[in-house]
Amino acid sequence: MKIAFFDSGIGGLSVLHHALKLLPNEDFIFYADEDNVPYGTKSREQVLEFVDTAFKFLVSQKVDAIVVACNTATSVAVRKMREKYSLPIIGMEPAIKKALDLFPKQNVLVAATEITVHGEKIQRLISKLNAEKFVKLRALGELVNFAEQQEFNSPAVENYLRAEFSNYNFEEISSVVLGCTHFNYFKDTMKKILPAHIKFIDGNEGTLKQLIRLIEPLTDKKNSAPSIEFFYSGRKVTEPAELERLDNYLKRLDYVFEI
Ligand code: DGL
Repeated sequence: MKIAFFDSGIGGLSVLHHALKLLPNEDFIFYADEDNVPYGTKSREQVLEFVDTAFKFLVSQKVDAIVVACNTATSVAVRKMREKYSLPIIGMEPAIKKALDLFPKQNVLVAATEITVHGEKIQRLISKLNAEKFVKLRALGELVNFAEQQEFNSPAVENYLRAEFSNYNFEEISSVVLGCTHFNYFKDTMKKILPAHIKFIDGNEGTLKQLIRLIEPLTDKKNSAPSIEFFYSGRKVTEPAELERLDNYLKRLDYVFEI
């Protein structure tokens, strides 16, 4: 099977990185919309257009399923894409349910992009979970830019996070939900700043379980190593320097995976 992972940028690699552990025999396309990243600070109309363009390209590549490895794009466009295409489309949403299942009736801080934080989708999720009292939302959009520049633990990143987190009493918070796939890269830096009891929770596992449920009946159960093709906004990545950039992200994901 050929499975596409799509994100505004390199955040979605954190989902692909996890997928490689669970689905070691499939073929993957990773599409980062590097021409248009970040999405989180743009208008919903613009993001819908970007997602539409990416989907046209991915469908033309004859993929069997598309994982929208981006909470922002999911919030804006996943419903419309499902209306338009019949292949399995798996979206992502901040793992608030997982956080509340692990820490019932405790406060969680959900960090995401501006679009996700202000979107209707997250409000619907919070009210479905009856979690208004427990959920605090914070947009940390600048982390997307830091991640794209491979800047994960510089003084600038630390200062930004310290300032953003200074608004909360973390003694009353159980966990930080990483509601943007770009934020996984910062788990070690966040850990350094926050009290030791704070857990980091992302939506990768839930998303991949849903992918596996949907594709299981379609897989050909081949037994070979996975192949991965990388695309930046529809252009195949072949330059050694760019492939090395992507490899550096995957290495960092190895490092933060257990945090
Ligand atoms: N990685 C994306 C997410 O999960 C969005 C980052 C952005 O482009 O703002 O929300």
